[in-house]
Amino acid sequence: MGISDKKKAWSETVVAKNITRAPERKPQFLTSSNIEMDRCFTPDFEYPGYEEELGFPGQFPYTRGVQPTMYRGRFWTMRQYAGFGTAKESNERYKYLLQAGQTGLSVAFDLPTQMGYDSDASMSQGEVGKVGVAIDSLADMEILFDGIPLDTVSTSMTINSTAAILLCMYIAVAEKQGVSADKISGTIQNDILKEYMARGTYIYPPKESMRIITDIFAYCKDHVPKWNTISISGYHIREAGSSAVQEVAFTLADGIAYVEAAIKAGLDVDEFAPRLAFFFNAHNNLFEEVAKFRAARRMWAKIMKERFGAKDPKSQMLRFHTQTAGCTLTAQQPDNNIMRVTIQALAAVLGGTQSLHTNSRDEALALPTEDSVRIALRTQQVIAYESGAADSIDPLAGSFLIESLTDQIEKAATDYIERIDKLGGAVEAISRGFQQKEIQDSAYAYQKSIESTDLVIVGVNKFTVASEAAPELLKVKEEVEVSQKKALAAMKAGRDSAKVSATLQNLEAVAKGSDNVMPAILDAVKAYATLGEIADVFRRVFGKHTETVVL
Ligand code: 3HC
Repeated sequence: MGISDKKKAWSETVVAKNITRAPERKPQFLTSSNIEMDRCFTPDFEYPGYEEELGFPGQFPYTRGVQPTMYRGRFWTMRQYAGFGTAKESNERYKYLLQAGQTGLSVAFDLPTQMGYDSDASMSQGEVGKVGVAIDSLADMEILFDGIPLDTVSTSMTINSTAAILLCMYIAVAEKQGVSADKISGTIQNDILKEYMARGTYIYPPKESMRIITDIFAYCKDHVPKWNTISISGYHIREAGSSAVQEVAFTLADGIAYVEAAIKAGLDVDEFAPRLAFFFNAHNNLFEEVAKFRAARRMWAKIMKERFGAKDPKSQMLRFHTQTAGCTLTAQQPDNNIMRVTIQALAAVLGGTQSLHTNSRDEALALPTEDSVRIALRTQQVIAYESGAADSIDPLAGSFLIESLTDQIEKAATDYIERIDKLGGAVEAISRGFQQKEIQDSAYAYQKSIESTDLVIVGVNKFTVASEAAPELLKVKEEVEVSQKKALAAMKAGRDSAKVSATLQNLEAVAKGSDNVMPAILDAVKAYATLGEIADVFRRVFGKHTETVVL
């Protein structure tokens, strides 16, 4: 059967079934010259290896996309990462973004929340509400999602070491809204390996962290089936200076480690793998980034099918969120960042992302103002509604450049994964500093190329201006820390402290045993135990991780 016959079969089965469930946005997708945009252009000549290496959207190996109709059925989720100050201020920003047309929430937490400290801890001083929203207890989460319907909005939470605690708070808030846990949808980042490798918000040692993560997998498969239990992240690996190949390789190697840990914990691969999600960077080189996403999808499909024997097609699909590259934003001539973000966002769309955050022009200087974040969201909307880039699936397929880059990235990333396997897997390799050293070397080479001007950064090492007016920036009010600490003290004074102690003692007993920690955490958050009190129970039982310093 030739490619056109196979395409007909695909249209009459996979696509037809999907369209009954989710109709396409329009009956016809036409250009300005009334030319029909085919759903998925395919070669009308012999193309050896087409089916094995490219195939059709929504079919193994998913190179061309995970959904049979992709953006013709549903645009990617426009999901701006946001959060600062108190829960009230962030709630206002979320409502502003939803009103401006974004279609999913993405919560940024402040560092104390990410590191398991309450706002009144000495370690929190100066950081409360700074890089994200301050969350100390369920009381703050109730304010954060006040007036936001958790049965219809999907929420991503960028939280790792304390992900289990925030997920339990989210479940508790939903229940207070009358929404049961099996109805909520969203994602927790919950990817501790990249924290050891690149981002740094780790608390506990690897073994104990992996236990919490696989407990979340096990709990969610039974109680929170629509929740994506992990967002295996390459974003921060790239932000630390890795190449595109290293971003794919180290991220998928982490994914392999999580799958192995879950299987070792007794889970069947198809029980949890459909809810594994990924998170990548969209960097400056348009074509390399598109090829990177296509290579990652094909690699993961083959890894899950061939290495782990996953049978459920959803276990083989690499569904991912993309954030445009924060590390490419310049403080100089910040408006230039609008064009950078546009090209990077286009790469994510042409590469088939499921969800997208576009950085704001001023984020090299501060958290974004409302004006800047609106321009960032409008960038996505212009690409979606005006550019035509969403009207045909995987439009760059068949390009000599794109297919060659896709193959080369897949090969180079596969070589890296084989090297990591030989070192004993991602966890062992990280403990030896392997990935960290590779990233450092790439980062050094990248920085040198900028300083030598081999790599031109417009406005920075070429086309500079002598001086420019300072842009208007968002200022997080200093009194946030004071007001947050006051609210925390009032909450503690009003709660049932005996009940809090009982739930924390129970949590300690569970942590020391082998039962799933999630039910005990849920009881504690519902009693208004604070994030710091819960994280401290795990510090006492699990201890704290010390970093492998790589010279
Ligand atoms: N036809 C039919 N159905 C379709 C469709 C189509 N064409 N397109 C989508 N759908 C369906 C999907 O199947 C899904 O339904 P299901 O859940 O029943 O399967 C539903 O529509 C929603 O689609 P997606 O799941 O693709 O989109 P979501 O946005 O809900 O999920 C995700 C995307 C990548 C899977 C998810 O994990 C996600 O939202 N991730 C976001 C992570 C994030 O925002 N991270 C921010 C990190 S910020 C950070 O770390 C940086 C800081 O450190 C600086």
